[in-house]
Amino acid sequence: APAVIVAIDGPSGTGKSSTSKAVAAQLGLSYLDTGAQYRAITWWMVTNGIDVDDPSAIAAAAGKPDIVSGTDPSAPTITVDGTDVAGPIRTQEVTSKVSAVSAVPEVRARITELQRAIAAGAVTGIVVEGRDIGTTVLPDADLKIFLTASPEARAARRSGELKGADVNSTREALLKRDAADSSRKTSPLAKADDAVEVDTSDLTLQQVVECVVTLVEEKR
Ligand code: C5P
Repeated sequence: APAVIVAIDGPSGTGKSSTSKAVAAQLGLSYLDTGAQYRAITWWMVTNGIDVDDPSAIAAAAGKPDIVSGTDPSAPTITVDGTDVAGPIRTQEVTSKVSAVSAVPEVRARITELQRAIAAGAVTGIVVEGRDIGTTVLPDADLKIFLTASPEARAARRSGELKGADVNSTREALLKRDAADSSRKTSPLAKADDAVEVDTSDLTLQQVVECVVTLVEEKR
């Protein structure tokens, strides 16, 4: 069978990562978390003292870090220059700075190239999750999904993940990041015209996974 390419986009807290990993595992496909790549380059900028509010400094440094993603859906990994950064990329500092870094066109060009190479090398196929996968990175994907959910459902999920973080401040931070990601000039968060939209507000993870798996099987 030819490799199958699945693009899963949407704002934060809609269940993209959990859904993408489970779909990939169930179908024997690779998995790529593109948000982790943007977080990794942001972590490198912060660690190296680069001012994230200076787009020209970010652009000049965009080619420096070597970012490598492990694509096994049961144990995805991310390293920068050989260092495991899976933990450090989830800090509040990185989370609050990632939108500014990922808005810089040189950063997007660099990361997009990595993403296309990884997808091209996936033997059975791959599930790629992000914000611009269906619109920009892999416009010829076999299946494009756009996940949405109410701000309440998203904030509740995210604060659950953050173990007891305040729901209101989580909601504000999340909406702020989505607004920045949706309004940037270069490949903003957007639904592709040919994407299937799934509102996950009132669905369990298992229901969303089943829905996506069925859609993939229809395409095969
Ligand atoms: O998915 P996650 O919340 O980890 O993504 C972190 C950030 O990375 C997003 O808020 C966005 O700024 C950026 N991102 C992006 N394009 C993608 C994936 C993530 O700009 N395809």
